[in-house]
Amino acid sequence: MLTILLVLMTSAALAEGPAQWVWSGAVTSESAVVKAKVDRPSEARLVLGERTFAPTHVSHSGVVTFRLRELRPSTDYVYRVEVADSSSLEGRFRTFVTGPTSFRFVFGSCARTSSNSSVFETMESLDPLLFIHMGDFHYENIGSNNVADYRVAFDEVMESERQASLYRSTPIAYVWDDHDYGPNDADGTHPGKPAALSAYDETVPHYPLVRDEDENPTDLRQAFSVGRVRFVMTDVRSHRTPDSEPDGPDKTMLGESQREWFLDELEISARDHEVIVWVNVVPWITEAGSGHGWGRYDWERRVIADRIRKLGLVERLVMLSGDAHMVAIDDGTNSNFATQAVSGERGFPVVHAAPLDRYARHKGGPYSHGKAARRILFGLIQIQQFGLADISDDGDVVELRLTGRNKKGELLHGMSLRLRCRNGCEVVPEPEGVAAGAQ
Ligand SMILES: [Fe+2]
Repeated sequence: MLTILLVLMTSAALAEGPAQWVWSGAVTSESAVVKAKVDRPSEARLVLGERTFAPTHVSHSGVVTFRLRELRPSTDYVYRVEVADSSSLEGRFRTFVTGPTSFRFVFGSCARTSSNSSVFETMESLDPLLFIHMGDFHYENIGSNNVADYRVAFDEVMESERQASLYRSTPIAYVWDDHDYGPNDADGTHPGKPAALSAYDETVPHYPLVRDEDENPTDLRQAFSVGRVRFVMTDVRSHRTPDSEPDGPDKTMLGESQREWFLDELEISARDHEVIVWVNVVPWITEAGSGHGWGRYDWERRVIADRIRKLGLVERLVMLSGDAHMVAIDDGTNSNFATQAVSGERGFPVVHAAPLDRYARHKGGPYSHGKAARRILFGLIQIQQFGLADISDDGDVVELRLTGRNKKGELLHGMSLRLRCRNGCEVVPEPEGVAAGAQ
C-alpha cells in the first residue's frame, strides 16, 4: 500500500481561543470535508501542508465547512484550522483507497451526552481509518423544531475532551437514531425533523445527501467505498411510520424513496465491490409483530430480505447495528427473513456494537454468538463497549474480523466473527487460542 506521509502528526491539541472544535468526514480517495466551530468564521481558514482553503460554507452558528479536494489516495493528512492569528485546531485523516486495501475501523452507538469515557481514548488508540457512529450521539431527546437546541447538543458532546480528541484524529461517518434525532422512539412525524436535518447538515461532515427542491436534505442516507468494501448507511427515523400503525405495505422504516435507493445501491455496489456493509442502526432480528426493531415492520423487512436474496447478495452483505445496548453477533443463523427462505437457510451476518457509554440493555435475537451486556448493579451502572473491524484484502480474498470490545479494548468473550470473502463470504472458525478468549 502506497503511503506518503505529508506531515508528521504532532498532537491534535485544542487551543484556547475562538476556535472551539473540529472534525472530519466524507473522506474518499481524493477528498474530505472538515467542519469547525469558531467565533469569527469570516477569519477562518484551513491549512493543509502548502495549501490554504477558505470555507465553502459558513453557518449562522459559526460552523465553517472546508471541502478539501485533489488529495492523494492512502495519504496521512494533518490539517489546521486557523482563526486570524489567535488560535488554531489540528486534526488528521487518511485518504481512502479505491483498489484492494487493508484497513481498520471502529463502530458503535449510544453515549450519554458529552460522555468523557475512556472508551473514546481506547478507540482513538487503535488508530482506525474511520469511526462509524450508529446513533444516540447524545441523549437530549429534543422535541422542538429549533435548530439552536440541536446545535447546543453537538457543542455539549464536543466539550468532552476524549470525544473531541477522537473526532480530531478519526474521520466520522454518522447516522442518527432516536435520541439524537428527537425524543425516545421518534419517527417521521417528529415535529423537529427539519431542525434536526438542518443541524446535522451544518454540523456533521457527511457524504452527499439527497435533497429536496429547496436544497434541504430529506434524510441521512449515504454510501461510500473503502477499497472493495461498500458502506451503505440508512436513516431509520426520518421517514418511519409510527410503531403503533398496523404492519403492511403502508408501514415503513425507510420510506419508499430511501428503500428504493437502498435496493438500487445494493445492486450497483455488488458490481464492483466484494463486500457490502449495511449500517442499519436498529435491531433486524426481532420477532415479527413485536420488539423494538424491524419486527414491527415485517412487511418491509421481507421486501428487503427478498431483494437481497434475489440479487444473490446474502453472502456478500454484513449488517452493523446499534440501538440495543449490547454487543451481539449472529453469523446468519437467525437473520434470514426472506419469504422464500427454507428452514435453516442462512442469512447475512449481523453485528451489534453498543453502548459506547450507557446502561446495558438487551434487544432482539436469538444471536448465534449470544449477547454481551454486563448488567452491573441490576443495570444501574453504565457500561462502555464498541465494535472493531479489521479488513484485509490481498486483491484476491477479503478477510473481515468483527469483534466486540470493552472500554479497555479487550475482546468481549466470544464476540468475534471471521469472514473470508471471494465471490461471497463464508464464516471461518477462530484460530485456537482466540476462541479461548485471547485477542
Ligand atoms: Fe441508545
